[in-house]
Amino acid sequence: MLDEMVRQQLLDQCRHAREHAYAPYSNFQVGAAVLTVTGEIFSGCNIENASLGATICAERVAIFTAVAAGCPDLTALAVIADTPDPVAPCGLCCQVVAEFNPDCQVLMANMAGRWRLASLRELLPLAFRWPLGKGRDRHEK
Ligand code: THU
Repeated sequence: MLDEMVRQQLLDQCRHAREHAYAPYSNFQVGAAVLTVTGEIFSGCNIENASLGATICAERVAIFTAVAAGCPDLTALAVIADTPDPVAPCGLCCQVVAEFNPDCQVLMANMAGRWRLASLRELLPLAFRWPLGKGRDRHEK
């Protein structure tokens, strides 16, 4: 479980990152942050593209930033947008989280201050796992 201080830190980082969202096509700004096993936080915003298909979600920017910094051991992902209910990460982003931690906690929030917590397994119970390769070994205990 996330303690209240960490939850606030994650949501602060989400809100701050969201200010940098580049979303001229959808006008839907998203901020995300990941907490790593060492307690570091990496954030991201959505970045759209005229091709639309090259758009990347805020969650994947945050995750890839953590991985690129050498911190792939994620313990929580947080996401915020200006939605009536706390916003959930898309299926593609859930699949990317599953690559690094299928037991990751997911904190979903909106700009009005509402939030809810779920496990990645609740959001994506049957994430695809590479059946043969070494990526699979990463989480086998
Ligand atoms: N988006 C995210 O950043 N995260 C999500 O979980 C859902 C969607 C972005 C992608 C695009 O820039 C905009 O929101 C509309 O889909």
